[in-house]
Amino acid sequence: MSSKKKMLSGIKPTGLLHIGNYFGMMKQSVLLQDEFESTFFIPDYHALTTLHDPLMLKGFVKEVILGYLSVGLDPKKVLLFRQSDVQEHTELAWIFNCIMTVSYLSRGHAYKDAEAKGEEVTVGTFDYPMLMAADILLYDTDVVPVGQDQKQHVEFARDTAEKFNRLFGAAFKLPEARIMEEVATVPGIDGRKMSKSYNNYIPLFASREEIADKVMAIVTDSKGTRPENVYAIHRLLKDASALDPLYEENEGNYKALKEALVEDLDAFIAPMRERRKKLEVEYDIDGLLREGGERAQEIASAKMSDVRAKIGVR
Ligand code: AMP
Ligand code: TRP
Repeated sequence: MSSKKKMLSGIKPTGLLHIGNYFGMMKQSVLLQDEFESTFFIPDYHALTTLHDPLMLKGFVKEVILGYLSVGLDPKKVLLFRQSDVQEHTELAWIFNCIMTVSYLSRGHAYKDAEAKGEEVTVGTFDYPMLMAADILLYDTDVVPVGQDQKQHVEFARDTAEKFNRLFGAAFKLPEARIMEEVATVPGIDGRKMSKSYNNYIPLFASREEIADKVMAIVTDSKGTRPENVYAIHRLLKDASALDPLYEENEGNYKALKEALVEDLDAFIAPMRERRKKLEVEYDIDGLLREGGERAQEIASAKMSDVRAKIGVR
């Protein structure tokens, strides 16, 4: 048994990965993969809350797994799997449904936002945090590296673990979110949070032309002397000490500053883009998912035996 603490996280397969995913979650995951016993998975049942197209879902699962590998998660050290390969996740989510209340889940930001926008909210969207709690708690997770938007979800998982342990006896560890403060919320090209659903993102594996298109579209209604949205994205790549002289020298010359950003983004993305291209043709993704799914299932199945015995089902 390893004495390392356990880390687990996931990215919903609902679109292309973007640099917000990278700086908010993936970068710290790669840095921490040796320090922790690490698991990264693909929550495809979570994606089903908004994506109802089987071909697209499968495509985005591949996108996320290729992304994990291309940014440097090492499949020899890290357990990688797809949620739907491990039935225990949905089983445990049901059990959690039966101990947490509607009024508690009604506090969820994601649910409240969807309601406020007048969207048709599915039961799955409302219940999303219970499936996520199952994802985290099945694997005795200590830390969950995520961006700021997922903090409440990890707190829900923690509360759920506490309640279960209180009602039925100790079964679950209490997890904690791990958020890199300086990139807790990466801004998009319109200054709002970078997000798949706002279409304001820079794809993590963008070609140079795509990078240039996105950067030229950055909104520059700077009230001061600096184009703040350009600068904020640039700061992900370089320290203030390196950037400030450049921005002072080119005050008012947004074109030059945007060109500098394109240059720096391309230099940062190019090696990962190349890696992804190679992996896409060479890597046995199906084999990786099959093997990862089997290993994850062993862990989840042992945990569920304990849980089933505690609650008094088969
Ligand atoms: P999602 O694409 O919503 O499944 O998010 C995957 C991971 O990326 C989660 O840990 C998010 O918190 C993180 N993430 C997504 N967008 C951003 C952003 N704009 N800034 C920081 N982290 C983000
Ligand atoms: N809700 C997360 C997101 O949208 C994805 C996710 C599902 C997740 N289950 C998880 C993240 C468990 C961390 C741990 O980003």
